[in-house]
Amino acid sequence: MKKMISVLVISAVAASLAFANGGSEGAAQSGASSKGLIGVVMPTRSEERWNKDGNAVREGLEKLGYTVSLQFSDDDIPTQLNQIDNMITNGVKALIIASIDGSSLGTQLANARAAKIPVISYDRLLMQSPNVDYYVSFDNYKVGRQMGQILVNGLNLNSPAKRPINVELFAGSPDDNNSVGFYQGAMDVLKPYMDSGVLAVPSGQIERTVIGTLRWDAAEAQKRMENLLSRYYSGDVVLDGILSPYDPISLSCLEACKAVGYGSTAGKPLPLVGGQDCIVASVKSIMSGEQYATVLKDTRSLGAATVELVDKLMNGQTPTGLDTTSYPNGAITVPSLLLDSVIVTKDNVQKDVINSGYHTRAELGL
Ligand code: GAL
Repeated sequence: MKKMISVLVISAVAASLAFANGGSEGAAQSGASSKGLIGVVMPTRSEERWNKDGNAVREGLEKLGYTVSLQFSDDDIPTQLNQIDNMITNGVKALIIASIDGSSLGTQLANARAAKIPVISYDRLLMQSPNVDYYVSFDNYKVGRQMGQILVNGLNLNSPAKRPINVELFAGSPDDNNSVGFYQGAMDVLKPYMDSGVLAVPSGQIERTVIGTLRWDAAEAQKRMENLLSRYYSGDVVLDGILSPYDPISLSCLEACKAVGYGSTAGKPLPLVGGQDCIVASVKSIMSGEQYATVLKDTRSLGAATVELVDKLMNGQTPTGLDTTSYPNGAITVPSLLLDSVIVTKDNVQKDVINSGYHTRAELGL
């Protein structure tokens, strides 16, 4: 992964490839020294992680001598389609795409294939198209198992203090294939506890289609949590835990709970909640004892793995050691490179978040 290829300064081609589109970042490097232009499209700038991802990929590619057009799509599908169209027109040598709706890019992916531009599906799987070359992500099923395991550990489900323990479940965006892996992994861990009566879901809302959160929108999740609390939690029915697939959803669910007295009323402690992405606000919440845990997927590693893969392709090498069975996209099974994720609680924040440099002490207000 760390293999650096020395940069031969030979290409003057990209000199003319500066982008005129709004939202483009990082395409300004002098073309005279560039190994070629690479297009990087991230779903939105408004979520902490995609900024980190975008910067990690851009910096890594620039270090190797590529010119990068990094664009964020404002969670707007037509914007993303346009950005990719423009990149193809502008002659990118490879496309790295984190989609909004994984199934919406069929035409663009076909155009990329026709122009012999390799496509790397970044973090989220591009669906329903044969024109996807590689997938670089985390093991999303395992991430889901970790989300379930957070509840098993935090709620002590193997020797529960009472029965049943009441939980509500949240899933990610239905148009993001990652939501499927997260949900399946979590349910495979939690279902046995539901079957044995240790866990109950008082709302009865369990199916992924019912508990999904379009575009991972934390405000939508907060509304759903408020509704669940007012409809199903009265008298002595108390919410003990929440399955959350994403830190902003965890934090907004905690807000909804606080608003009806959780955390400030006898017999109603804040429910235990995990999350995903290890965002600054959640790490702070974990340190102050509110959110219990999160799943850290190190965007620096994902960025580095992607950069290495693209560099190999640009050097005419064929990546080896990929997983060729786990990620069917409805048209083909996409060769995948899957990284590991880590559960973060109060106990390992220092080691895995601060010492590793994922967030600085200053970012965490320490
Ligand atoms: C998923 C991603 C998660 C989270 C979420 C919301 O696709 O795997 O880590 O970032 O999107 O952006």
